[in-house]
Amino acid sequence: MAQKLSPLASPLLDKVTEGPTGWTGVEADEEWAAEVRRLAAERNAVILAHNYQLPEIQDIAHFTGDSLGLSRIAADTDADVIIFCGVHFMAESAKILSPEKTVIIPDERAGCSLADSITAEQLAEWKAEHPDALVVSYVNTTADVKALTDVCCTSSNAVDIVKSLPADREILFNPDQFLGAHVKRETGRDNIRIWAGECHVHAGISGPDLVAKTEEHPGADLYIHPECGCANSAIYLAGEGLVDEERVHMLSTGQMLDEAKNQQTGTVLVATEIGMLHQLRQTAPEIDFEPVNERASCSYMKMITPAALLRALALGVDEVDVPKETADAARESLERMIAVGQSGLGE
Ligand code: 13P
Ligand code: SF4
Repeated sequence: MAQKLSPLASPLLDKVTEGPTGWTGVEADEEWAAEVRRLAAERNAVILAHNYQLPEIQDIAHFTGDSLGLSRIAADTDADVIIFCGVHFMAESAKILSPEKTVIIPDERAGCSLADSITAEQLAEWKAEHPDALVVSYVNTTADVKALTDVCCTSSNAVDIVKSLPADREILFNPDQFLGAHVKRETGRDNIRIWAGECHVHAGISGPDLVAKTEEHPGADLYIHPECGCANSAIYLAGEGLVDEERVHMLSTGQMLDEAKNQQTGTVLVATEIGMLHQLRQTAPEIDFEPVNERASCSYMKMITPAALLRALALGVDEVDVPKETADAARESLERMIAVGQSGLGE
């Protein structure tokens, strides 16, 4: 059974106030950093941060990485408490993989428009229409959807997961239409049905944005997250010879870090949530990283503020729980996901 956390005192707690977009009132200064480290040590807590978190949260975390890498750490950690600086479905996945741990998200209101684009009821109906199909769900789904899923995937292993499934079985891929189109293209399978969901942040990184940026930076490499609305345009640009095919890289956030290490110099246009630029610039300071759309910021990810993290560690909130029946039904699909693909931590 997961341990219920009791509150710990902190001199900074009185400063935490509730603002219109989440917890606020605490600066990410040295006092805050020391307090975060002290409270984490006292709770034997591991702090995990997704690559889209605020830079100060990425820097204080024990591990920063992509969805796959962080899920693997959550499944393996010796810590008693997992503080998940990310969005709700990520913390839920950590809880499903490590049910005996206490899992905390610093603001439980940090949702995900993509996870909201399919409900368990909708998936159940879709399955009933295609009873022989296998269900592949992106990890950006609720625990209830995962419970109806055969295998989950992240952006870094979606192609390999689908390749591992019998070629003659129909696949219901959900919820991201752009990632689904990428998987279909890469696997060459025509028996994949794709749900029409999307992430509002990545869908907003459009073809015209990408074309304008490639005209501004003609020799640049392109790092494109497969959730992006511009993914098809990147393929089109390469197909038309407008961008050298070798310069177009479709990558998860963790794979972008690996690619940056190989590349070392030059200009790279980055099509994903702008939090990613912090990790990329730290990893390869000689490269000029330019966002394809500088307004592509996920307000859910940015709800994990310094104040929210301090409050989470001191008060032991917001705890994430998944009903046992749902977690048991969802676990196998997540375990199949973490068994496939690279580390996801940019190592
Ligand atoms: P990855 O970390 O798997 O690249 O996922 C991106 C994402 O949108 C998570 O919200
Ligand atoms: Fe969800 Fe998009 Fe935000 Fe990722 S960037 S958490 S997919 S809304």
